[in-house]
Amino acid sequence: MTPRERFLAACACEPLERPPVWIMRQAGRYLPEYRELKARHGFLKLVRTPELAAEVSMQPVRRFAFDAAILFSDILVIPEALGLGYAFRDEGGIAMEGRIAGRADVEALAGEGAVPDRLSYVAEALALLRRELAGTRAVLGFGGSPWTLATYMVEGGSSVDFGRVKSLFYDERATFDLLLGKLTRSLVAYFKMQIAAGADALQIFDTWGGVVAGPDYEAASLRWIRAIISEMPEGFPIIIYGKGTGSHLMDQAFTGARVLSVDGSVELAGVRRSLPGNVAVQGNLDPAILNTTPETARRETLRLLESVRGCRGHIFNLGHGILPQARIDCVEALVGAVTSWR
Ligand code: CP3
Repeated sequence: MTPRERFLAACACEPLERPPVWIMRQAGRYLPEYRELKARHGFLKLVRTPELAAEVSMQPVRRFAFDAAILFSDILVIPEALGLGYAFRDEGGIAMEGRIAGRADVEALAGEGAVPDRLSYVAEALALLRRELAGTRAVLGFGGSPWTLATYMVEGGSSVDFGRVKSLFYDERATFDLLLGKLTRSLVAYFKMQIAAGADALQIFDTWGGVVAGPDYEAASLRWIRAIISEMPEGFPIIIYGKGTGSHLMDQAFTGARVLSVDGSVELAGVRRSLPGNVAVQGNLDPAILNTTPETARRETLRLLESVRGCRGHIFNLGHGILPQARIDCVEALVGAVTSWR
């Protein structure tokens, strides 16, 4: 069985000897070869140049026996394609090149028709990655959820309290819905393009889903995710990653997503037991464990694996993205523990 087959079998909740493994942000700053390429070209050039994006996506799978390679890109390419570019703040975090303050700003954004053209480099990068992997590992595409993208666009960048986007949601619902509808249609076009370019599965990052109050999660975020999934080919593997959305897992499970990626705030075994048997779970080791020692990384990886022994439908991953301080030998220990586990 190839790693790609193992990954797809886990998405389909088929029985496996051991779960497939990959980690969020596996192409990134903890890798010296990534830091070297980024110092030479800059982040945005890596994202926008198909050969470089494919190369960065390959870096982690050359080093580690991951079952999947995720395309190197960013969720913020969608706001950029609609007319709102992004950059990095010196002190860390994102600064958008402006912000959506009202209806006129939403109307001024490009429509979904702009997506295939402006983001053709993503399709090219995915096709290169797919060709290079030649069916050995699964190829993952991704995008942000409409809500998570809206937080960056309305706040003008990274946020602490999400005050502006919440005001829009609670006080100007028609404008909020107009923006989220536009993002939803753009993401549908974007995901269809990624599927056509060869993605085996797609992950929707709802990183900020947990900041909206429980009863409002549906109207602010989940209904838009559901609308996207309903436009995807029947049965195509869609993974929803939500941070802080552990109380909404059952609702997420009925969106048509095949996999729910859970953060470290929930107990994986309990989640696995309570969700429908045809929905897989992905997660959820604490990323900070990769900053400790290989012994600890191995021990905690085995502890998580044992907690779901005998369960179908588990993809091993972290509860959130790997940190820049992560140790290479800890990642090796994690991957070794998963791939040798029986
Ligand atoms: O997982 C992967 O290896 C694929 C690549 C990937 C990146 N961003 C590359 C990246 C993925 C899947 C993303 C998704 C993304 N981008 C999310 C959702 C996932 C999550 O972690 O919650 C979000 C919220 C963003 C927006 C974003 N881009 C942030 C908050 C940052 C960090 C800004 C900072 O403070 O440095 C980025 C930059 C970014 N995207 C980096 C990488 C590797 C780091 C940039 C660098 O090299 O300096």
